[in-house]
Amino acid sequence: MAKLWAGRTDGITSKLADDFNSSIHFDCRMYKQDITGSMAHAAMLSQQGIISEDDADTLINGLQAILFDLEAGTLSVDMDCEDIHMFIEQELTDRLGDVGKKLHTARSRNDQVALDMRLYLRDETDEISALTKAVVKAVTDKAEEYAEAIMPGYTHLQRAQPISFGHQLMAYAFMLLRDIDRLADCRKRLNISPIGCCALAGTTYNTDRYFEAKELGFDGICQNSIDGVSDRDFCVELLSDLSMMMMHLSRFSEEIILWCSWEFKFVELSDSFTTGSSIMPQKKNPDMAELVRGKTGRVYGDLMGLLTVLKGIPLAYNKDMQEDKEGVFDACDTVKMCLKIMAEMVSSMKANTENMYKAAQKGFINATDLADYLVGKGLPFRSAYKISGQTVSACISSGKVLETLTLDEYKAFSPLFDNDVYEAIDLKKCVEKRTSEGGTSFGSVRKQISTVRSKLS
Ligand code: ARG
Repeated sequence: MAKLWAGRTDGITSKLADDFNSSIHFDCRMYKQDITGSMAHAAMLSQQGIISEDDADTLINGLQAILFDLEAGTLSVDMDCEDIHMFIEQELTDRLGDVGKKLHTARSRNDQVALDMRLYLRDETDEISALTKAVVKAVTDKAEEYAEAIMPGYTHLQRAQPISFGHQLMAYAFMLLRDIDRLADCRKRLNISPIGCCALAGTTYNTDRYFEAKELGFDGICQNSIDGVSDRDFCVELLSDLSMMMMHLSRFSEEIILWCSWEFKFVELSDSFTTGSSIMPQKKNPDMAELVRGKTGRVYGDLMGLLTVLKGIPLAYNKDMQEDKEGVFDACDTVKMCLKIMAEMVSSMKANTENMYKAAQKGFINATDLADYLVGKGLPFRSAYKISGQTVSACISSGKVLETLTLDEYKAFSPLFDNDVYEAIDLKKCVEKRTSEGGTSFGSVRKQISTVRSKLS
């Protein structure tokens, strides 16, 4: 069939070229945004006297009917069309005859596709934000449940200092809150209307771009028509925000995977979020967490892909830009799935607090507290640090731990040691004492929890 755009050419292309050129199998998901945008466009055209009120009503009702039929499943998208914009316009014209042909006055597919993408990604951004909030809530609930569970905190994956498991979890809550913030910031630049930029140069018709922008809930309009149709920064920005979010989810997943191992045994995932092995009957694998970690790669790939597509495109619209969609759609789909999985996986995760505590007892993670104890007795920190280190080293040689050294043994390292040393190195006390702002004390963890809860509400 000849194309709607048959003009200079007869619009008859080879089947191979059609398949290569077509984007309908991925842009069909924007049908609703395309129809909404067209309804606002028809309203603007009649408000400005470019088409009659009757024609606008006919167009708007026709578009509404197409939307209704698509959603009811009584109309399906014709995959032989070039893209969703052409399909809707063709369907409208089939239904309304000549009136349908008036819709495309004072616009181009170039501003139309930019509009649809912004409308679509605005909804996606809002949905992703809401899903991220649900993960933050799940993490915060878990942190509250385990606010007083002691575990070793790590640096270099070596046991470092005792912390509350709640504190460790809240670190992820704050990362994800920043991700929500970034999405809100990205939304500001995304929510600007390109419609009315037309092909690239604007139009000779007396259009009202502000009217159309307002109808569609935009905060403003693109101020340069060439930029308006060439700009895909909002896609890159969203992909970059999603990449950062996936990096956070991936680090969290990596920890969950480690914690599930026999080497750690800190947490137990619910059976419904693990899988077995086809050959090893004892296995309970954290596949969901591994997949979140793995899918991070595809989201980074989506970001790099689009940056690369855009880097050499001269102004204004070029067909290369059709390549913006699959990556950004894939990233949104992937992130949404990962967030849903994370929320449920974390909610149903149980901590093995006994094992965490046992691990905290090994590794001399209260050695800093031993040094701080000597500082309290008047020694400068560097000297105290040295004595604590020597004490640890002696313990390692004799197979002892700080808690089992006798006072006499302590006194051999420094006369400043006294009976109160045992309280000073008690793991729970070590955590409770870290009352500095943002530290791991139980009070501080509870404060973080309430800060996050108030941000969520
Ligand atoms: N399917 C195209 C895209 O996704 C729509 C815009 C086409 N415009 C054009 N002048 N060929 O980018």
